[in-house]
Amino acid sequence: MNALAPRLDAARAEAPVGTPGGAPAVSLAAQVAADFPILTRRVRDKRLVYLDNAATTHKPEAVIEAERAFYRESNANIHRGVHWLSQHATDLYEGARERVQRFLNAARSEEIVFTRGTTEAINLVAWSWGRANLKPGDEILVTGMEHHSNIVPWQLVCEQTGAVLKAVPLTDRGELEPGAFEAMLGPRTRLAAIVHVSNALGTVNPVAAMIERAHAAGALVLVDGAQAVAHQAVDVQALGCDFYAFSGHKLYGPTGIGALYARHELLAAMPPWQGGGDMIRTVSFEGSTWADPPARFEAGTPNIAGGVGLAAAIDYVTGIGLPRIAAHEHALLEYATEAALRIPGLRLIGTAPGKTGILSFMVEGIHPHDLGTILDAEGVAIRAGHHCAMPVMTRFGIPGTARASLAIYNDERDIDALMAAIRGAQRMFGTGARP
Ligand code: ALA
Repeated sequence: MNALAPRLDAARAEAPVGTPGGAPAVSLAAQVAADFPILTRRVRDKRLVYLDNAATTHKPEAVIEAERAFYRESNANIHRGVHWLSQHATDLYEGARERVQRFLNAARSEEIVFTRGTTEAINLVAWSWGRANLKPGDEILVTGMEHHSNIVPWQLVCEQTGAVLKAVPLTDRGELEPGAFEAMLGPRTRLAAIVHVSNALGTVNPVAAMIERAHAAGALVLVDGAQAVAHQAVDVQALGCDFYAFSGHKLYGPTGIGALYARHELLAAMPPWQGGGDMIRTVSFEGSTWADPPARFEAGTPNIAGGVGLAAAIDYVTGIGLPRIAAHEHALLEYATEAALRIPGLRLIGTAPGKTGILSFMVEGIHPHDLGTILDAEGVAIRAGHHCAMPVMTRFGIPGTARASLAIYNDERDIDALMAAIRGAQRMFGTGARP
């Protein structure tokens, strides 16, 4: 009998990564590869095998060209000028906002606030809504798998308001403890701030059900969608969330641009968090009054070219179709999971059913950082460390993991290169031999 079979069966039962839509893994990668100029470059005289997509994705020519064209043909400051070019740039930027609105299916474009990314979006809610609404003893409920950007802003605002931060514990598979979220929602819970997809584990949280429970308990819900929007369709009205945050650069868009979705009645009642131009209605030395949302939350000249690039990224992704992207990545994750489980001494961290394309793992006898360095010498780019999710590492009693994360342009060749490089590292360390 094949000694591997029981391990594979167990892993499949634990992490059934289906192929919704049914597109074969190679076809999409082959189709889009030529769109990404960086993929042709060599690294350390090897083919670049880029498996660090949860950190940031590469940019298709359409996004690069949109930014370039903006600076070449449309550059001006927005919302200010009476001249044609300023109006043109404003139209492009506000058109990008409408693209984000449609992408998330928000009810109106005023519900979209442009930010630097997910981190700034969460900080906006913490500093604006949090400082205005939290009282001593109020509770903010997060999960044990949050990125630091959905922990630290709440800790800072708790210090100022006397509110208390609580975290839902995780199972050994990297899911929320069954029933714990509901049990921890109490009469003092004002906000549940929950990650949609874990960057360290790949776990997809049942956010729709969690939002329903939180609302029933009288709490608002913020969803950190940084690792979700490039991998599955998100409909904020169907979810019913109050806030949803994401970054452009994990969605094949530029760095330095992202968005916060917030229900309009919440935004309309929230005070500004940064002062400056564009966010005011009137200013005098006696006092100032505020613009309506979203301008109230966008002080100063924004990342206009970034907004235009983000719109191009959204067009690119929706042109392919998120169901097709999800099918491709799920099929490839299944291939990668099976290959990983054939490597003796490799332990997966995060085996939740239906997880997304993130393979977090430890290799016995090799520190994740050493593994990352050895893989890099082979041209294989992964991330190693705590992935800005130190509480996850504490939960599993490990210093960090090696993490391969998938995108539309990855294929089986990339996974084969990863596994060959891991086996090479094992040979170097004299580990991994079968007993
Ligand atoms: N949050 C990003 C990651 O998981 C940077 O790598």
